[in-house]
Amino acid sequence: EINKEEWENSSDIISLKAQISGCLKCPLGNTRTNFVFGVGNPDADVMFIGEAPGADEDEQGEPFVGRAGQLLNKILQAIEWKREEVFIANILKCRPPNNRDPLSSEVEQCEPYLLKQIDLIKPVMMISLGRIAAQTLLRTKDSLTAMRSRVHNYHGVPLYVTFHPAALLRNPNWKPAAWEDFKKIKSDYENIPNRKRKH
Ligand code: URA
Repeated sequence: EINKEEWENSSDIISLKAQISGCLKCPLGNTRTNFVFGVGNPDADVMFIGEAPGADEDEQGEPFVGRAGQLLNKILQAIEWKREEVFIANILKCRPPNNRDPLSSEVEQCEPYLLKQIDLIKPVMMISLGRIAAQTLLRTKDSLTAMRSRVHNYHGVPLYVTFHPAALLRNPNWKPAAWEDFKKIKSDYENIPNRKRKH
């Protein structure tokens, strides 16, 4: 059953998507196949934030649909969260050529879209995937290890930092540490008093 708030959130998020999907504010607008807005529940408690779309995401217009996305889906299953219940997005909505790191000029143009998504969705927790996404959001050069060691604050929302699933595919020896991160994330989530639902 869908309540009034969820209904309004979904129409607002659909309007935002329609408004920004033709963006040409940075040069990536000219090289993309698809604008990758993000996917999931417009009233999600939890937002996952990656760096930028890769080739599969650019092709399909949805974040985390390639091999890294399949591993993210397995992680979500392992902590008994549904992909449709959370919201998944990237800092950059368009793919950088050859998957190079985002330029600060691109982040400057694109991050306001993420902030609007946060305004509408009102997540109680955010999880950034990978070193680059976290360094970009937090404006730091700290190591992934340092950033994983504590909870951050991104525009008023608790931000957790963990490995990028693509990094876990390259380094399976990091999976136990990632699993510890996700167990803590799930348990902290369940202790948030103002969460909207009981995942
Ligand atoms: N890597 C990311 O950071 N985001 C995606 O959407 C896919 C791969």
